[in-house]
Amino acid sequence: MPEIISFSDVSFSYHPHLPILKSISFSVEKGEAVVLLGENGSGKSTLFLNLLHLVSGHSGTITAEGLEINHKNEKRIRKKIGLIFQNSNDQLFLPTVKEELAFGPWNLGFRGIKLEKQIFKAAEAIGIQSIMEKKVFHLSQGEKKKVAIAAVYAMDPDIYLFDEPFANLDPKTRQDLTKILFDLHSQGKTILLISHEVDQIPAFFKRVIVLHAGEILFDGKLRGLFQTPEILSKANLRVPIVATLYQKVKKQFPNRIKKSWQNRKIPISVSEFEEFLEFLLKDM
Ligand SMILES: Nc1ncnc2c1ncn2[C@@H]1O[C@H](COP(=O)(O)OP(=O)(O)OP(=O)(O)O)[C@@H](O)[C@H]1O
Ligand SMILES: [Mg+2]
Repeated sequence: MPEIISFSDVSFSYHPHLPILKSISFSVEKGEAVVLLGENGSGKSTLFLNLLHLVSGHSGTITAEGLEINHKNEKRIRKKIGLIFQNSNDQLFLPTVKEELAFGPWNLGFRGIKLEKQIFKAAEAIGIQSIMEKKVFHLSQGEKKKVAIAAVYAMDPDIYLFDEPFANLDPKTRQDLTKILFDLHSQGKTILLISHEVDQIPAFFKRVIVLHAGEILFDGKLRGLFQTPEILSKANLRVPIVATLYQKVKKQFPNRIKKSWQNRKIPISVSEFEEFLEFLLKDM
């Protein structure tokens, strides 16, 4: 698969002598789903802002779809990359939900029935048809998050950047969002997801990049990260609850973990843990 995003020796600071990103290098292939983990203040959101040129002054080279991220290219780049902000209030600025959804496609040249169709498609995909006429100002946090996602979806970008989308969402909405992420992934979209919720990472996010104090501490398989305690402790991360439970059960019933399971990987998602439980309980 061709490379769609690339950071090459990128450093960035908001204030001189206070580096926030330090010599960051990585690339992402088209269609990849990558999760970005790291403690508060490690530079995750700043990395997203740099990718969209919403902040400027980085050193090194950032490219998206072969275009270098700079002032000259920023308009073209923002048509290709959609950012769902950490705080929806930073993203939404129009009076009604419908206007929020229309803004992007309008700027892309959609008019009349084509524009209506594009708005309808986004509202339907994210499940917000019933609040289209509402004032954005009156929406709940979860509703705002959905509107922010739908507004980006309406522009149909190739790359989606989700900055902690699960925060403040109720269980049903979290489930809906997981489905949305899965659908985008199935459509071949490239997804970068920042999340503190290690129990919520959908199973198709195989790769993780860990940021620590502005540096990449780990770039590899998510499962590999959860088996590397030094990195987890340095970055103040924890393993998913199901992995902890698995270790406890394994310790408690060493004789029950038969040969046929022994070479299996540690479960890191609920479905993998369920599979393990079924195995364990099978001949009890
Ligand atoms: N506009 C700004 N001006 C100056 N410093 C900033 C600005 N925005 C962020 N910072 C600083 O940059 C550092 C990285 O912030 P950033 O928001 O990228 O962290 P993060 O990894 O997204 O954290 P969180 O998990 O809390 O969202 C922090 O120390 C923060 O205080
Ligand atoms: Mg952040």
